[in-house]
Amino acid sequence: MSHFSCQNGALCAENLPLAAIADQFGTPTYVYSKAAISENYLSYALACRQNGRTAETALVCYSVKSNSNLAVLHLLSQLGSGFDIVSGGELLRVLAAGGDPRKIIFSGVGKTRDEMRLALSHGIACFNVESVSELHRLSSVASDMGVKASVSLRVNPNVDAKTHPYISTGLKENKFGVAFEDALSIYRTAAALPGLTVTGIDCHIGSQLLDDAPLLEALDKLIELIDVLAAEGIIIHHLDIGGGLGIDYESEAPVAVSDYLARLFAKIDAWRVAKHQGAPIKVLFEPGRSIVGNAGVLLTRIEYLKPGSEKNFAIVDAAMNDLMRPAMYQAWHGVQAVAPRAGTPTVWDVVGPVCESGDWLARARALCVEEGDLLAIMSAGAYGMTMSSNYNTRGRAAEVMVDGDTSHLIRQRETPEQLFALEKIIP
Ligand code: LLP
Repeated sequence: MSHFSCQNGALCAENLPLAAIADQFGTPTYVYSKAAISENYLSYALACRQNGRTAETALVCYSVKSNSNLAVLHLLSQLGSGFDIVSGGELLRVLAAGGDPRKIIFSGVGKTRDEMRLALSHGIACFNVESVSELHRLSSVASDMGVKASVSLRVNPNVDAKTHPYISTGLKENKFGVAFEDALSIYRTAAALPGLTVTGIDCHIGSQLLDDAPLLEALDKLIELIDVLAAEGIIIHHLDIGGGLGIDYESEAPVAVSDYLARLFAKIDAWRVAKHQGAPIKVLFEPGRSIVGNAGVLLTRIEYLKPGSEKNFAIVDAAMNDLMRPAMYQAWHGVQAVAPRAGTPTVWDVVGPVCESGDWLARARALCVEEGDLLAIMSAGAYGMTMSSNYNTRGRAAEVMVDGDTSHLIRQRETPEQLFALEKIIP
């Protein structure tokens, strides 16, 4: 169920009119629904329970990069979530939000020594290692600290995720993970390094996947490898299938989380019974978009209407610096009037004030609007605020979380002075 709906002619977040949020906090503002985030997380957690898993045998590690606001992380941590991080910065965010370090996994191709030390000092659960060089570095950092780092190799199963090339990550040509063919010898190296303990295997084949077939194909590859490793005495205790499930932006109809997890667990159970006397293996997930994507909108106000002979432009106060996805991936986001008007719609391109032709949020949308109207850019909860920038010295948008009929400011709008506070003029 969508938590953004029209009630008495006014678009609301849960039970709160978006217009009231604009009045109180201004625009542009990201607005998130607490209930939507919770439900989306619970759809994973409940599917794990329904397939016989406990908190010990399945863990959802929310992908922090999709939306890293402390309030979002705190909410998810209270619901029992773990976290998938890709930087020391994300680690500190999760800890500041009360996240449990023992439920943190660290992904990413370029971890620095400092980041490794920080993560080891907090006792995170596991490093998802992406290269041989990284294994050596991690082993030496851990040995220097007198500890052992738990590692999982991110294996590239070479399956086509059938998604946008910029967000597909499981093909040989991508920079991520180690090649499937090389994995065995790299695991041998890992097992022999003094600062490491091999605990897992992982993959992440891409994002905004609508079908689970590529994910299940990737699972088959990982299962095959786990058995090869077991025959060599390298025992894998957890299998991390990554994130990637898509959401409805327009009418994509992605596979339901419960269906995907039922198929995935059925495959794992059949394999464990056939080959491992039914001994369980812990399963990890790294979802981002499917938890927060449809739980947020970007609220913006129309500054000017600029009709033209070729195109009509609705110039709003949000821009590509606030929501990069359209400019970067030609991504489609729904646009809804916050107070829909009666009348004949006109076709508008919704664009921002930034000095780039690529600064658009939506193209060719039939809208019945006037200057000063509020618009909601839909499905903006994932990779919206986290990918925003200060281009054109524009302060980042405010962020608000709605709980029922109550709004909470969870990040203040940035002021211009804050944007140049770290800069200095030379003598
Ligand atoms: N795990 C790893 C290792 C990842 O690289 C990602 C996303 C995830 C998990 C979470 O994937 P999700 O469940 O959200 O699909 N900026 C792009 C998406 C980039 C995704 C990067 N990796 C966008 O706006 O569409």
